[in-house]
Amino acid sequence: MSENSNLSPIPVDPTTTEAWQRLEEHDGMLDKGLREVFAEDPDRAKKLSFEAADLFVDLSKNLVSEETVGLLLDLAKETGVCERRDEMFAGAHINTTEDRAVLHTALRRPKGATPSLEVDGQSVDHDVHEVLERIYEFANKVRSGEWTGVTGKKIETVINVGIGGSDLGPVMVYEALRPLADAGIEARFISNIDPTDVGETTRDLDPETTLVIVASKTFTTLETITNAKLVRAWLLEGLHAAGVAESRDAEAVAKHFVAVSTALDKVEEFGIDPQNAFGFWSWVGGRYSVDSAIGTVLTVVFGPEAFEEFLSGFHAMDEHFRTAEPEKNVPLLMGMLNIWNVNFLGAETHAVLPYSQFLHRFPAYLQQLTMESNGKAVRYDGSPVTAETGEIFWGEPGTNGQHAFYQLIHQGTRLIPADFIAFANPTYALKDGETDVHELFLANFFAQTKALAFGKTAEEVEAEGTTGALVPAREFSGDRPTTSIMASALTPSVLGQLIALYEHITFVQGAVWGINSFDQWGVELGKQLAKQLTSAVAGDEAVLAEQDSSTRQLIEYYRKHRA
Ligand code: F6P
Repeated sequence: MSENSNLSPIPVDPTTTEAWQRLEEHDGMLDKGLREVFAEDPDRAKKLSFEAADLFVDLSKNLVSEETVGLLLDLAKETGVCERRDEMFAGAHINTTEDRAVLHTALRRPKGATPSLEVDGQSVDHDVHEVLERIYEFANKVRSGEWTGVTGKKIETVINVGIGGSDLGPVMVYEALRPLADAGIEARFISNIDPTDVGETTRDLDPETTLVIVASKTFTTLETITNAKLVRAWLLEGLHAAGVAESRDAEAVAKHFVAVSTALDKVEEFGIDPQNAFGFWSWVGGRYSVDSAIGTVLTVVFGPEAFEEFLSGFHAMDEHFRTAEPEKNVPLLMGMLNIWNVNFLGAETHAVLPYSQFLHRFPAYLQQLTMESNGKAVRYDGSPVTAETGEIFWGEPGTNGQHAFYQLIHQGTRLIPADFIAFANPTYALKDGETDVHELFLANFFAQTKALAFGKTAEEVEAEGTTGALVPAREFSGDRPTTSIMASALTPSVLGQLIALYEHITFVQGAVWGINSFDQWGVELGKQLAKQLTSAVAGDEAVLAEQDSSTRQLIEYYRKHRA
């Protein structure tokens, strides 16, 4: 255990706490169901709804009573969630397996925040704002046309080459805020080592007007380095064809390539001028990095002002999480509700259903955030976890999901807690005749959460004239838990708030389970084996012979069928 952390060497086993025992015995409102509890208490919605920054969060359609919530908060207390939260904000090394601080919250502290944050001898506030200023200066130059490609043409497309946290956040935010792209610059993203990704993404682009951002925390990730090399080859080939002499390659790379990384030495080895690199720090986890220099592509496309607003949204949610009393602390309450659903009601998955087409990559973004963080079977002291961890996050925007998988959420045998997210104001206020289509859209959001909560009884089905076996087929049990999150509009600030909300929910769950939510050793084995197998795939018979019969057979199939 690092000296820098007050974490107890052995995490509290949540299952041994008094609150856990009481939650196990507690049947809450489960014997009644949502119809009955809503009928009994006209104030239920009000009592179980909260505000966090600009978000309005209604927890009342979850399978909890006020007593359940009280017990869940007791559990948070007994497992030391708030102490661990405070350690995180203060820069303690709560990422124990890597002996690192966990300070993504420092990335969005406003300039001049007091008291200033110093961690491990680093003046964090100073460094964060110094890099931000360099990024903003660069972004402004590209946006205004002062920064051009090597042939003097204005940049029209920025390609972000990265994967995981160096891709999913920027893609998601780009998609979410697209209408704010105001400098005539389009962003594209290359992540997959499937060569299709580079091929398709660059196919119709003009190298003379393309800028490439190579985004990699470590600058060693196979996919990103390989793709960056492919894009560099594509770019130089295109520039040569446009008449740029090969002797100008270094200049061309300097004008068309920038990098974002914590490993600036490796950036230089790759051939990118360190002047054109923006750094961040080991205390920013990849999946928590969209608000670091990893967001450079966003500053170019949307401008520094929008990015500042985005950061201010994160900070507003950080402050809520840091200071709100537990009874009104939305990330704490939502994290503890997830514990209830997973550990006491047996939920295995969690749907996230944004009623906003702009958020179509939000569920994918949350998959890395939540599952890479909390998909762990050992606690931070190396001992096995004592309860199920890390539910499977998934989802699609409504209403598309309604016509695909909602059937299972409504009538299947599994309990699937779902978060519904919607905005009062649309970006496109379109009408179909007299009908406001955004209202039609929102009516679906309200209808789905209502149907999931209250269902439809056999009597109600029969009252509509249905008989026989059709009655149970058309019956809806209800009592399917949902959380509704609303905001006025999907602004950069609100998006920052939403991301920070889920970051902190993830943190709360990890803290209860006693795991380290900030490492990701589970991705290592596959990476190692891929390196070893590359030679077998390329024809190394000796390495092929060492493989298990299934792997060998698959590689042989590939070798036989490759044209
Ligand atoms: O998949 C593992 C991982 O390390 C993620 O945590 C990370 O976001 C991604 O790879 C990309 O890493 P890097 O930014 O270092 O290229």
